Amino acid sequence: MVGMHMDRYMKFLAERTSSLAASEIRELLKLTEGKDVISFAGGLPDPSVFPKKELGEIAREVIISVGERALQYSPTRGVTAFIEALKGFAAKHNVKVRGEDDVVVTTGAQEAIYLASKVLFDEKDVVAVEEPTYLAALNVIKFFKAKPLAIPVDHEGMRVDLLEEALRRGVKVKALYTNATAQNPSGTTMSLERRKHLLELASSYDFLILEDDPYGYFVFEGESPTPIKTLDEEGRVIYISTFSKILAPGLRIGWMLGPKELMNYAELAKQNVDLHSSTLSQFIVMEAIRRGTVEATIEKAKSLYRVKRDYMLQALEENMGGLASWTKPIGGLFVLVSLKERVDTRKMLYKAIERGVAYVPGASFFVSRDGSHTMRLNYSYPSLEQIREGVRRLAATVKEEVRQA
Ligand SMILES: Cc1ncc(COP(=O)(O)O)c(C=O)c1O
Repeated sequence: MVGMHMDRYMKFLAERTSSLAASEIRELLKLTEGKDVISFAGGLPDPSVFPKKELGEIAREVIISVGERALQYSPTRGVTAFIEALKGFAAKHNVKVRGEDDVVVTTGAQEAIYLASKVLFDEKDVVAVEEPTYLAALNVIKFFKAKPLAIPVDHEGMRVDLLEEALRRGVKVKALYTNATAQNPSGTTMSLERRKHLLELASSYDFLILEDDPYGYFVFEGESPTPIKTLDEEGRVIYISTFSKILAPGLRIGWMLGPKELMNYAELAKQNVDLHSSTLSQFIVMEAIRRGTVEATIEKAKSLYRVKRDYMLQALEENMGGLASWTKPIGGLFVLVSLKERVDTRKMLYKAIERGVAYVPGASFFVSRDGSHTMRLNYSYPSLEQIREGVRRLAATVKEEVRQA
């Protein structure tokens, strides 16, 4: 039946729509909802981090005292006072706002990735990405038919030396997309030296950098690394961030910061997509910044996720010692596990779900190398008890799989 309906409408679809394939893994993971399956597959914040009481008070006050503006349409670029508040917030967190820069408020960082791609990428343009990389950015790059150029990461982030080799060979890169800090999915962070090297390459070979930085605000080990945006002297960086992980994702407020000319085009592109991001959410976030609610949430996220990360690393150590290696993130929400044997984690997922644990098979995050023996584990959402039990179930699944291989 489903097939019949699909066939009936296929002829109506635009050519570009065919690249929007539903992921088989996502469908499979949907089936686990409501069952006794401990999920390391998502990427959700721990809801105990949400400042519910404060946001409740703020929302009420904003609606009652400035509702005539907060409930109204607002400029595509963002509410002017909020943009000013954002620039202050950025500066406080060591994100440099240059005189030639402007801000566009977006519906989450995801929209910023989409708008930047829509403004910049033509068919066949080469966009360098980390390998592995954030799947939803990769999907946008592919949607615009640009060509991802995969540059592997190691424990110091993107192998910028390998990017340089490709550039020297004559590959013409138009832009590069990076989560330089606490990368999704690998959890690795680009070293300061590589950040500087990357900017030198961007200058010599004339390309732009999209720095997607949701995680730089709650690094829980050491200082937060200096954003590439802050090191940039030439206006080559479009910086993207979000309040999803440091306030609440349901507000859907992200932002992009970059050269005025480019932000003007991003604004025009946004007009076609959603006119503007939620005015009410912008007023709420602005007030949450002013009252210190965002900073308090950042502190809460830092301490909670640090404990959860440690718990997951310890559970991995105890249960998966000889079977796998894994990354040790300084922030973010994920650990990437690489199994020693060439076990296919896509196939293994069915058995893992039977044993009551789920993860995202790593292959989807890779463009050119084989990531089929890797998996991404989320530690922000499950409870400590679920982390312990989930890793135990996962180790039992891996052991069985290795025995059979
Ligand atoms: C690297 C990265 N970029 C962007 C996003 C999307 O965030 P938002 O909720 O702001 O759209 C996420 C969400 O997990 C992410 O990990």
